[in-house]
Amino acid sequence: MGFCDDVKAAAEHITAAHEVTIISHIDADGISCETILSQAISRYGIPVRSVFVRQLEPLTMPQVPSDSSLKIFSDLGAGQQNLLEERKFSKNEILIVDHHVSQPCPTEYEQVNCLPYGHTRMSAAGICYLIAKQLDTANIDLAKLAVVGNVGDMMARETCGLVGPARDVIVEDGIRHRSVEVRKKDLNCYGTATRPVYLSLAYNDDPFVKGISNNPEGAKQFLKRLGIVQQAPTGRWYVWEELSVEDKRTIISALAEQLIANGDSVDRLLAETYGFPDEIPRTPLRNAQEYATLLNSCGRWSKPALGGAILRGDRGTAYREAEHMLKNHRAIIRDLLQFIIETGVHELENLQYLNVGNRYPDTIVGIGAGMALSKLNSAKPILIMCEVPEDPNLTKISMRTTERVVGRGIDLQQALNDAAKEYGGGGGGHKIAAGAYIPKPAEQEFIIRVNKILGEQFAAQGSDHC
Ligand code: C5P
Repeated sequence: MGFCDDVKAAAEHITAAHEVTIISHIDADGISCETILSQAISRYGIPVRSVFVRQLEPLTMPQVPSDSSLKIFSDLGAGQQNLLEERKFSKNEILIVDHHVSQPCPTEYEQVNCLPYGHTRMSAAGICYLIAKQLDTANIDLAKLAVVGNVGDMMARETCGLVGPARDVIVEDGIRHRSVEVRKKDLNCYGTATRPVYLSLAYNDDPFVKGISNNPEGAKQFLKRLGIVQQAPTGRWYVWEELSVEDKRTIISALAEQLIANGDSVDRLLAETYGFPDEIPRTPLRNAQEYATLLNSCGRWSKPALGGAILRGDRGTAYREAEHMLKNHRAIIRDLLQFIIETGVHELENLQYLNVGNRYPDTIVGIGAGMALSKLNSAKPILIMCEVPEDPNLTKISMRTTERVVGRGIDLQQALNDAAKEYGGGGGGHKIAAGAYIPKPAEQEFIIRVNKILGEQFAAQGSDHC
């Protein structure tokens, strides 16, 4: 059986169901999964309802119904099949669509997972899209949603663009449907639809351009020196997507010159980016990255269905509410990042960690950890702990590292999963980003244990953290 056979089998499983319940994750990828699946399944004529969970764990399992519906777990489930088995779900009532590392389980639930087939850069929304297309090729309009899910799950980050089936099948379908526009050699920069150009440049540190990154005034002067008109006659700041091709070329060339003059690499200056021409200019819906942040700001703040409404095309009340969520999300992420940097992290040999207590919700600490890493010692994985509001006896763990450190043998998913199990908790995710829930009293021992496991992983690869 190949990956395509698994996709076909999943579609057949769905068409045989009389009713479906989708249980999906609350991040941009999970919200995209839910919309893609529920649209495709309801178009097929099967009744479908959805449940969002922040993660599949004992606390959230009661949200999974015990009824006769086919239960599809999207963007979660692969690492938590033991919980499904404990609930005594039979094989034919479960379908898992996931891209997280699968944990062995005596009951072999049906699963479509791209990882065992070597597709490491495709998110769960990508798989959901392939299933939707298998159900009906007319579902090609959902390719755009899968692009948002993939980009939201950082599938394009390391390779400066999507690769593999996410690029060759999904993006191509989006282009054919005319709802996705590819910009092959665009500036590798966030906020190109909504931020003033100088702020987009200043907030970007990948690549870090001396005098411009982290330096709004430096970025403004840089553009001025190049003769770029930065403001409309009304005083409104232009965004990157509004600039002429010539202005964009001038800026990119000057950034390249600056990097080379500083002896830095230009490798990450350009990226393939994905725009949505059918959306209103200068809104976060105009490109995949900002669209994904909008979805995250809904999902991570307990309103995943609001993100789903946006994906389904609501540009009225739901969109206005989502814009409000986005503003709030950005402000708190900024605050969290500042808190981590100002408070500082505790350094162990193989990791750096910080407990943020009850200051920030467990749904966003991972985002903060990822952003803080580029401002700290990125050679050491970062671990952030926080309280779980629903259960004072639990601690949420989020870990992030870089591709370079993964290349040195680090696998955060394995480290957290193994260590959490030893303390009666549970963890999972990816080599580069993983999370766990553990009993609060075990916090200190747990960190020491994770530090030790990471040391073993470095040693197994014959490397150390420096
Ligand atoms: O929660 P956080 O953003 O830190 O999660 C990082 C990654 O680990 C996500 O892909 C999430 O789905 C996964 N994860 C998991 N099991 C957990 C916690 C997180 O698979 N218990």
